[in-house]
Amino acid sequence: MRIPVLAANWKMFKTVGETVSYLKEFCALTAGVSGAEMVVAPPFTAIRAASEAARGSNVGIAAQDCYWEQEGAFTGEISVRMLKDAGACYVIVGHSERRRLFGDTDERVNRKLGAVLAAGLTPIVCIGETLEERDAGRTLAVLDRQVEAGLAGLTPAQVASLVIAYEPVWAIGTGRNATPAQAGEAHAHIRGKLAATFGAEAAAACRILYGGSVKPENIKDLMAIEDVDGALVGGASLTVSSFFAIVSGAQLV
Ligand code: PGA
Repeated sequence: MRIPVLAANWKMFKTVGETVSYLKEFCALTAGVSGAEMVVAPPFTAIRAASEAARGSNVGIAAQDCYWEQEGAFTGEISVRMLKDAGACYVIVGHSERRRLFGDTDERVNRKLGAVLAAGLTPIVCIGETLEERDAGRTLAVLDRQVEAGLAGLTPAQVASLVIAYEPVWAIGTGRNATPAQAGEAHAHIRGKLAATFGAEAAAACRILYGGSVKPENIKDLMAIEDVDGALVGGASLTVSSFFAIVSGAQLV
């Protein structure tokens, strides 16, 4: 039985004060939610305050990225050790904005993933094709490459503990989510690839989230897809009412 994960990726939004008031309200609203993991990824500057505001609640705190070294002369970078110290339990790795704007390759994703797992935190690894790749009929090949290179060297037990987010790049922030058929095909393919590479048991345990224009209006249909184990939500997670509506919608299935 895979426990669903509903994760909020706030990107570069919210100050410390805004984070704390959101979490106080959200944690109170979700106090009775069981059977799902809820995660909020604020900017680095608000992780400590977020983890204090969410203490004792059902909501876990994530970082949006990390660097793989423990410490050193890496100006501007943040290590997993620092994130753990600040109270993060999850780390998003390889988001398409990091890949597209900040040079994350599958190899860098793999190193970050190794650092997150070594620290005992849960990675949320993002994969997904661009519109150009989809139009060229290369979606499944791109997903294969991202899984092979991104997850290279992981043990089946590590893969079982992973959260993967399938986020078609053309669906992120566009209002145009993947259809249930498109998401279903990609998710089943990813799980098949995991089974072929790491074994059936690891593949069956790994949570695979859908991300890309998830909203209260489409969460129910997305969650009804067999291999969809939750959602990574950007824009629609920025207000408590909308993210709570997504959590509620996901619970109904
Ligand atoms: P979106 O972003 O929900 O705003 O499309 C999703 C994401 O980037 O993780």
